[in-house]
Amino acid sequence: MKDFEGKVAVVTGAASGMGLAFAHRFAEAGMSVVLADIESEPLAMAEAALQAKGARTLAVRTNVMTESEVNRLADQAFAAFGNVHILCNNAGVAASAATLRTRAWESPLADWDWTLGVNFMGVLYGVRGFVPRMLEHGDEGHIVNTASMAGLLTGANPYNVSKHAVVCLTEGMYKDFKEMDARISASVLCPGLVRTAILDAERNRPSEFGPTTDVTGLRPEVQAWSSSFERALAEGYPPEDVAQLVFESIRDDRFYIFPAQPSILERVQARMQDVIEGRNPTMA
Ligand SMILES: NC(=O)c1ccc[n+]([C@@H]2O[C@H](COP(=O)([O-])OP(=O)(O)OC[C@H]3O[C@@H](n4cnc5c(N)ncnc54)[C@H](O)[C@@H]3O)[C@@H](O)[C@H]2O)c1
Repeated sequence: MKDFEGKVAVVTGAASGMGLAFAHRFAEAGMSVVLADIESEPLAMAEAALQAKGARTLAVRTNVMTESEVNRLADQAFAAFGNVHILCNNAGVAASAATLRTRAWESPLADWDWTLGVNFMGVLYGVRGFVPRMLEHGDEGHIVNTASMAGLLTGANPYNVSKHAVVCLTEGMYKDFKEMDARISASVLCPGLVRTAILDAERNRPSEFGPTTDVTGLRPEVQAWSSSFERALAEGYPPEDVAQLVFESIRDDRFYIFPAQPSILERVQARMQDVIEGRNPTMA
């Protein structure tokens, strides 16, 4: 996609972190921005900040886990602006750092349901709610699905599994668009460590998924790992740098967007080599 001025971007998870940075970057490019998030107050603040910069905006409180809410978001975006050119399916959750190292049989099923519900089904609902209308309109456009380096590295936990699903879905969509000769393309965003509020995601855990995961009873090595992970994330890349890379990747039609620390990319490389050589998984 080459022209941004006067076009329309929709961003889910737009009230915080990377989604908020995307919204600002798109507004700076002269786009109208539709902001969607489950958190009402931060969403209103995000919209006010963009309007203060002169951006044309629409804020729609949306829980991406619910298909009808995502469809309503699409209805409102198309009604307000006539078309959508960029869709960032970005909203995501992680049920605490420790749950990235729990074993498949240890994570409560509610963690699987919630994490897959937001991180994967939320992306799928976005694709199903927006893409047919974007294709029908025939303008150039781009879908960016936020996965993670966790989508290229293994771990028998809900977060990694949900992000693998997003990588697979988005690679398939890219090929479908090319095969159809569509004017829409797709990218998958796989960040490493970015300084956001992701480890405070339990703030958005709906009550039907039970209480916040109790990490105090977990294996000591998991607790130690999760403390060091929290520190590393706090020193991660600023979300604005990721937003700039996303913007350039849409402009240049680059599929894989990897704002990731070299040590993480080395682990991805080792995993890919395991697969190519058919050898057993390398221990990190
Ligand atoms: N921060 C990182 O290091 C990192 C690394 C890789 C991938 N990611 C992914 O980046 C994306 C953005 O997260 P972030 O790091 O900016 O965290 P963040 O918590 O700052 O932002 C996530 C936003 O999603 C919203 N959200 C949560 N559940 C929602 C729901 N059900 N419906 C709608 N909105 C919902 C939150 O309210 C929040 O505004 C996520 O998909 C996350 O998994 C983050």
